[in-house]
Amino acid sequence: MQKHPQMTFAKDSKNSIPLQIVSKDAFQDWISSQPAPIVAWLRTIGFDGALGDVHLLPDAQGIPVMAVMGFGTSKSRIRGRFHVARAAAALPAGVYHLAGDLSGIDASEAALGWLLAGYKFDRYAEQSNIKARLVAPDGVDGKTLEIIAQGEALTRDLINTPSSDLGPSELQVAFEALANEHNAAVTVIAGDDLLTQNFPMIHAVGRASPRAPRLLDMRWGDVGPSLTLVGKGVCFDTGGLNIKPGASMGLMKKDMGGSAAVMGLAHMIMALGLKIRLRVLVPAVENAIGGSAFRPQDILTSRKGLTVEINNTDAEGRLVLADALALADEETPDLLISMATLTGAARVAVGPDLAPFFTEDDIVATALKSAGNSVADPLWQLPFWDPYEPMIEPGIGDLDNAPKGGFAGTITAALFLRRFVEHTPNYVHFDIYGWQPTAAPARAKGGVGQGTRAILEALPNLLNL
Ligand code: BES
Ligand code: MN
Ligand code: ZN
Repeated sequence: MQKHPQMTFAKDSKNSIPLQIVSKDAFQDWISSQPAPIVAWLRTIGFDGALGDVHLLPDAQGIPVMAVMGFGTSKSRIRGRFHVARAAAALPAGVYHLAGDLSGIDASEAALGWLLAGYKFDRYAEQSNIKARLVAPDGVDGKTLEIIAQGEALTRDLINTPSSDLGPSELQVAFEALANEHNAAVTVIAGDDLLTQNFPMIHAVGRASPRAPRLLDMRWGDVGPSLTLVGKGVCFDTGGLNIKPGASMGLMKKDMGGSAAVMGLAHMIMALGLKIRLRVLVPAVENAIGGSAFRPQDILTSRKGLTVEINNTDAEGRLVLADALALADEETPDLLISMATLTGAARVAVGPDLAPFFTEDDIVATALKSAGNSVADPLWQLPFWDPYEPMIEPGIGDLDNAPKGGFAGTITAALFLRRFVEHTPNYVHFDIYGWQPTAAPARAKGGVGQGTRAILEALPNLLNL
């Protein structure tokens, strides 16, 4: 795991600089209680509490005495999240603490946002990073937030690493490193062993690449309810013989975003020592083009025995996940979650900011959605819509991997996956995007975790911990 020293809190110190977070509504009251020189200066520069307006203020000797950040109105804040991270980016080197009336501020979101603002991907070139450090606010569990930030950094690092340095075997190395860090056990089934051990679809999707396909399997913990996480690990998605056009292929190093997300979440669960029996499954493949590639109209027989007519080799994620889900389902965990950059249709439906998820259980849906809202990891439920089942039933196989018609692509993909989960009552699937297209507070442009913090927050509820 790469080190991210900036993603920790500063030690409490007598010299830390107070950072006043001042909303527009509270601005008049607040300024009337400030010393005259500060008032004069803030009037000069026109500070009025506008969202994200950050200033450092000196005393008569030129020593900083306080920083201020405008917190806008609730109407302006609702357009984003992690607003306090703007101060992390704007302030010079120094140690700061949140001060003043913090009643309207989610201190935990502010503190986590500060840590996440310190994420940089500098494996290939030096990158400038924030210099301002925050003391963990009172009432906030700084250690837990640091662990969450580490998990998120792992997710981002894995997604940001190009396929030239993150093929199936390198993803395995990262998976094993994560397991070693937490004394978890790993088994790997690779190459032609996938055929003898009955993972035919993982093999078929990955076999055209010189970088052998594999199934990574991690187990950790021996008490409590069981949770199995399955993450799509397509280390590059060319589309296969149904090759993607250039613009669509351009971002496909991120097609292992589901595996990156479940590994980040697994780090959080293990580092926090949750009383869970955890299993993590990652089918790691490269969807490449070559003479041995699987083809349109091939019929694959899955691990579960269902036959799948291939109508588009670019609908590969559901194939590798299907075999992994079938394995997961064989031991009926208390909760089974899959995460995958599965369809372009999910991005069309909800854009990059929201993570669509599927469950049949309204109580689970409510728990996830409210957990997501409370930790600034927003989710949106979409339906496993039974009336669309016929769309995934083709002519001569049990299932069609790529329904025609262009309708409800994220739903039909989810329905496809659900066919492979027969015994596990509690199954949740996330069709994530895993990429921040333009920089936003606490989220640099590039790989990003989605749904992981929401799941972590909801777990006590979902598993009765
Ligand atoms: N990895 C892609 C989905 C994807 C594309 C996610 C762009 C995020 C951004 C997946 O393997 C894929 O190509 N899906 C196809 C399925 C179709 C052929 C049925 C899609 O969504 O176009
Ligand atoms: Mn694809
Ligand atoms: Zn894909």
